[in-house]
Amino acid sequence: MARFPYEDRFPVNRRLPERGRPREEVVAELRAMATEEDAFWETGKCSGTMYCGDHEHYRFLTEAFGLFAHVNVLQRDMCPSATKFEAEIIAMALDLMHAEAVTDTEPAGLVTTGGTGSILHAVLAYRDHAAATRGVRQPNLVKPETAHPAFDKACHLFGVEARTAPVDPDTTTVAVDALAELVDDQTIALVGSAGNYPYGTIDPIAELGELALERGVGLHVDACLGGFILPFGEELGVPGIPPFDFRVPGVTTISADTHKYGYALKGSSTLLFRDKALRNAQYFFVPGWSGGKYMSPGIEGSRSGGLLASTWAAMVSLGREGYRRYARQIFDTAAEMMAAVRSHPELRILGRPTFCFSFTSDEFDIYHVNDFMRERGWRFNGQQYPNAIHMAVTRPQTRPGVTEAFATDLADAVRYALEHKDETPFTGAIYGGVEGGLTAEAEELIRSVMEDMLDKQMRVPS
Ligand SMILES: Cc1ncc(COP(=O)(O)O)c(C=O)c1O
Repeated sequence: MARFPYEDRFPVNRRLPERGRPREEVVAELRAMATEEDAFWETGKCSGTMYCGDHEHYRFLTEAFGLFAHVNVLQRDMCPSATKFEAEIIAMALDLMHAEAVTDTEPAGLVTTGGTGSILHAVLAYRDHAAATRGVRQPNLVKPETAHPAFDKACHLFGVEARTAPVDPDTTTVAVDALAELVDDQTIALVGSAGNYPYGTIDPIAELGELALERGVGLHVDACLGGFILPFGEELGVPGIPPFDFRVPGVTTISADTHKYGYALKGSSTLLFRDKALRNAQYFFVPGWSGGKYMSPGIEGSRSGGLLASTWAAMVSLGREGYRRYARQIFDTAAEMMAAVRSHPELRILGRPTFCFSFTSDEFDIYHVNDFMRERGWRFNGQQYPNAIHMAVTRPQTRPGVTEAFATDLADAVRYALEHKDETPFTGAIYGGVEGGLTAEAEELIRSVMEDMLDKQMRVPS
């Protein structure tokens, strides 16, 4: 068993301590861990995850969080501020997604705990709405292969069949004709991404919208990743960003994560509905409970007011001007990093991405590049089918010197990969795919390795 984190430096709590420790000591321990762990991404060498990376901004959000951290927003009579924050977060997100284009229904939204939370709520709403309005009893959801696994998780949890359409390998966006063949009278919704996680590319949302309208089903646009950056890219004239929001006929819901490019604290996202009736389909009521009449707007019960307050604070403190400024820096940085990739004929960028890109090689296993770059402190996300490495450009990469370091390290990594092309890359065994797909035995083996990895993360100290 791997050593327990920090066991050589700080006490390991195997049981609730009998006597409490002084607060200063506890905070000092927390600060030591946080400072060291932050140093990992502060270099700017880490893909995604730390979208803002600005400690002053984090301090401000933490102050906003702290004022309402202890408040339970389920008890709205005690905290009208929660209604203000939630309503305004939703209004601002609806505005960004051009809900003004909706004239025949009343747009609405939910604030959830993250991208997965928004996707779960969307699938639940579609399932219950389709059951109530169309009598759908064996629901299915039709999604591109690149759609985030949160859709599979939602289908698993809510008894919905997940149907997966292939993507065009050149564009890395969904093949709409192939997707159309999977739609039937039990389909509750289609899915498209703006942009998808693996390649950062945007599915043909207009075509999906036409299909959704033709077949009388919903269309969820997963803009968890792109929702708070692509609209500003469009305003800035960045090429390759077609409309993907409520301006597109047929789009019925959109997930857009405030805790990614919305620069809010972790634990918040928005789910936006063209029609309030669809949102209300997943409201939950137990009028006959002995504890009183129970209702909740979504899956969660008690929620912290801190998340609403800090998300609201992030949005109103940055404003459109702040988001646009950060977006400009990120798109420019991504373009520079992609130019460095394109300068190597051995490397190939997948599709036509804008702020998040992935690349592969037809000459060697790209995980050789990953192996080398890891030694230089870079942390990419590993992909498969084809093996590729992925970089979601965030604000830490916009710092001086980071793109230059990327270009230098990448050039050295390509040389290393050419020299070692006949060997098996180390990281490929962990992240890479197996040609021709997985046999049932291989899938079982990988599941057991993954279970072991999760057990190591979730263990109790021995
Ligand atoms: C496109 C997309 N959708 C959904 C998600 C899931 O978001 P979360 O990890 O916040 O649950 C992600 C996460 O990266 C994503 O990139």
